[in-house]
Amino acid sequence: MSSGATTHLPVKLDGLRVALTGAAGGIGRVMADGFKACGASVYISDVDETALIESGHAGQIADAGSAAAMEGFVDAAVAHLGGLDVLVNNAGIAGPTKRVEDVTPEELDATLQIDLAAMFHTARRAVPAMRAGGGGLIVNLSSAAGRFGFPLRSPYAAAKWGVIGFTKTLAIELGPQGIRVNAILPGLVDGPRIRAVLKAKADAAGIGENAQIDRAIATTSLRCFVTQHDISNMALYLASPFGRTMSGQSLAIDGDLQVLI
Ligand SMILES: NC(=O)c1ccc[n+]([C@@H]2O[C@H](COP(=O)([O-])OP(=O)(O)OC[C@H]3O[C@@H](n4cnc5c(N)ncnc54)[C@H](O)[C@@H]3O)[C@@H](O)[C@H]2O)c1
Repeated sequence: MSSGATTHLPVKLDGLRVALTGAAGGIGRVMADGFKACGASVYISDVDETALIESGHAGQIADAGSAAAMEGFVDAAVAHLGGLDVLVNNAGIAGPTKRVEDVTPEELDATLQIDLAAMFHTARRAVPAMRAGGGGLIVNLSSAAGRFGFPLRSPYAAAKWGVIGFTKTLAIELGPQGIRVNAILPGLVDGPRIRAVLKAKADAAGIGENAQIDRAIATTSLRCFVTQHDISNMALYLASPFGRTMSGQSLAIDGDLQVLI
């Protein structure tokens, strides 16, 4: 199996106006860079001011846990970009790793707000702007945890399954107005975070790090991790003319993951 993509899909998105949440780092940052590289104009939100400045993208601090901040972010994006063609709801947190009886109401609330409710708040403001422009695209980041159960991560899994219901419903609601809505479900995305998680699991199990990595990739048919670019490139494809009939889809980018452990 060859390693995953590390370059942006070469599609032309000149003039496309794109707003992305949580895009100063991680997958969102690669997406923002990708849209810009393809010719789009980009406006991003994040909670990390240093990363936001360092990204070089236009944008603002806006916490996905706040309805008012999310509405304000979209309004600012529409004003800055002169309209809106694409909204990427990317901001997300892992939430607690605990048995359900140990999850506090505050932890549950924060996870559901940031990972699910924020998408309602951005859509509420983005849809009228897209409709005014004759159509658009909304891309919602779900997860493999939006198609499998995920032991000890019940708030995250509940939110990410909720994202699928929201996506499929909006696609039907907005399709006649030329607005497409899709969810992307990343699997095991390679990077420092997953490597640290796997090292901690290896230490806990008393096995080597490489054995733990082999164990993780054995949960995929293609025996691979995916890259941030693999995820980003699906968003670029959806936003390009090639994606024009894609809506209401749950797009797993995960090497055919079979289980979450
Ligand atoms: N990385 C993975 O393995 C993976 C797998 C499946 C799904 N996902 C999903 O993809 C999306 C991006 O994941 P990632 O791994 O790039 O995330 P990340 O942890 O790297 O964070 C991305 C960005 O979001 C910002 N952010 C955090 N909390 C925020 C908030 N409350 N409001 C606004 N911004 C906030 C962070 O500062 C960071 O810049 C998330 O929705 C995540 O659930 C990721």
